[in-house]
Amino acid sequence: MIDEARRIVAEATRLVTFSGAGLSAESGLSTFRQKQTGLWAKHDPMKLASVHGFAEDPEFVIDWYAMRRRGVAEAVPNAAHVALAARDDVVHVTQNVDDLLERAGASDVVHLHGSIIRDRCHGSCGHDEAIDPADPPTLRECPKCGAAMRPGVVWFGEALDDTVWMRAQEAVVASDVLIAIGTSAVVQPAAGLIALAKSTGSHVIVVNMERTNASGLADVELIGPAGEIVPALLA
Ligand code: OAD
Ligand code: ZN
Repeated sequence: MIDEARRIVAEATRLVTFSGAGLSAESGLSTFRQKQTGLWAKHDPMKLASVHGFAEDPEFVIDWYAMRRRGVAEAVPNAAHVALAARDDVVHVTQNVDDLLERAGASDVVHLHGSIIRDRCHGSCGHDEAIDPADPPTLRECPKCGAAMRPGVVWFGEALDDTVWMRAQEAVVASDVLIAIGTSAVVQPAAGLIALAKSTGSHVIVVNMERTNASGLADVELIGPAGEIVPALLA
């Protein structure tokens, strides 16, 4: 299986990756949907990652993001991030809000679900700024308009940024190989990119610890940890 996948990747001229929380799992960041250990196994996503939850208890939400931000500050890129970043001709479309691909040296990262190391105004003034994940902000007002500041991530019930979503779709349509890494492929519209790749003629390689929603779309499925499989695939 790995040989077949390596042949496909070696022949690729427009390689795109599509990653999820499993890519950063070996860096110590929790995934969302794994039983027991997943963030959504322990916490209600509608309280912590929705506009409604933020309106109900903003302090609770900001404190939870502060905890996650400290985790991101402490995490370091793993072997999968490093192997991906070593190829400079690849567009990395990711659902991850961490910056581990960038810290591994990747230059072209499309963050479908935003960035946890940025804050933006929850009002409509458009203010947006970097934060220090090692010393994350508490609940505070927008310096420009006084509305609440919030993490620069996409919450349940919110649309993806139009420009980001267009860029991701264009990269996928133009790709000849898409490698889906560490995603359960259940969150739409992001997960639809795998089917889009398939329907527009790309080879699809899926890397995951287990079979997922993406399995049926895979030309080659590689089961195992991203930190081992991705370096072997790209070496
Ligand atoms: P999930 O938690 O849904 O899925 C993580 C996937 O990674 C699972 O399929 C695991 O089997 C796999 N996995 C775990 N460890 C791995 C490893 N070491 N190597 C390879 N695979 C591994 O996370 P996502 O698919 O990223 O949304 O979830 C999608 C979105 O749902 C997230 O972006 C987030 C969440 O709600 C927002 O924040 C908007
Ligand atoms: Zn504002």
